[in-house]
Amino acid sequence: MQKATNITESDLTRVFAFPDTSEPTVRATFIASIDGAATIDGRSGMLGGDGDHLVFHTMRALADVVVVGASTAVLEGYGPGSLDGDTPPPTLVLTSRSLSIPDDFTTVAASNVLVATCTSAPADARERLTAAGATLIDCGTDTVDPAALVAELASRGLTRIDIEGGPRLLAAFAAAGVLDQLILTVSPTLVLGEAPRIAHGAGLGLRDQELSLPYRLPHPMRATTILGDDEGFLYQLWETVRDDVTSGRDTGGR
Ligand SMILES: NC(=O)c1ccc[n+]([C@@H]2O[C@H](COP(=O)([O-])OP(=O)(O)OC[C@H]3O[C@@H](n4cnc5c(N)ncnc54)[C@H](OP(=O)(O)O)[C@@H]3O)[C@@H](O)[C@H]2O)c1
Repeated sequence: MQKATNITESDLTRVFAFPDTSEPTVRATFIASIDGAATIDGRSGMLGGDGDHLVFHTMRALADVVVVGASTAVLEGYGPGSLDGDTPPPTLVLTSRSLSIPDDFTTVAASNVLVATCTSAPADARERLTAAGATLIDCGTDTVDPAALVAELASRGLTRIDIEGGPRLLAAFAAAGVLDQLILTVSPTLVLGEAPRIAHGAGLGLRDQELSLPYRLPHPMRATTILGDDEGFLYQLWETVRDDVTSGRDTGGR
């Protein structure tokens, strides 16, 4: 576990690097309050600070592809993006089953933007977006199947995958068992109220409670890095603990 009193871009690039593998790595980058709220007043912006913005932009620079729910992209005003220097911006993937993306959201027409949808998406919306210059990819029948999307991206050489939101999309990826890592900023505040958590919607089944920890938890993860800054924010790298029911079975137990 690493601790620091301040973070720099080079620290983040080093300690939050993607694993050195040609296999796809699915990472999500989120911010939450101490009590787990993903928003204040309906947006995530007020939870963050300079350090969190640095994390967000550094994680984006490390990724081949950024995946975001279409409505979140519209709400947050996502553009196709650009990075400093010669580094090309990552591919941006917007996901939507309904394809209810406004006509004036011109980001969809950029050459590095894909719209991931499913074959049951309305034909008229499909035609409207294609006419507006969007590139649509089907990854499933009734919903965007996260595993199919990951496979499609990998076939395009896009293996470092960063999910930026929102909570429903993260829940879908976690429930599908394809989430490998979470970069979580903990904002030094309580929020209270009814705000959603960072993974909200699709659920996970209960596991066999005879299993030892962490295997009896719904989606076990292990923190491998924790950084902190002087403003009280924590920056955490969590890795999914993959199932190993045999080694996890509690043989001695209380
Ligand atoms: N704290 C954070 O780090 C953070 C990060 C991002 C956003 N947020 C906040 O979260 C709120 C939005 O939450 P949300 O849960 O509604 O956002 P979301 O996860 O982006 O879900 C809504 C959008 O994603 C698409 N989508 C979701 N699941 C999908 C699936 N399985 N397949 C295909 N498309 C899917 C939906 O399209 P269809 O309905 O057409 O399928 C819709 O466009 C906003 O307030 C935003 O500010 C917080």
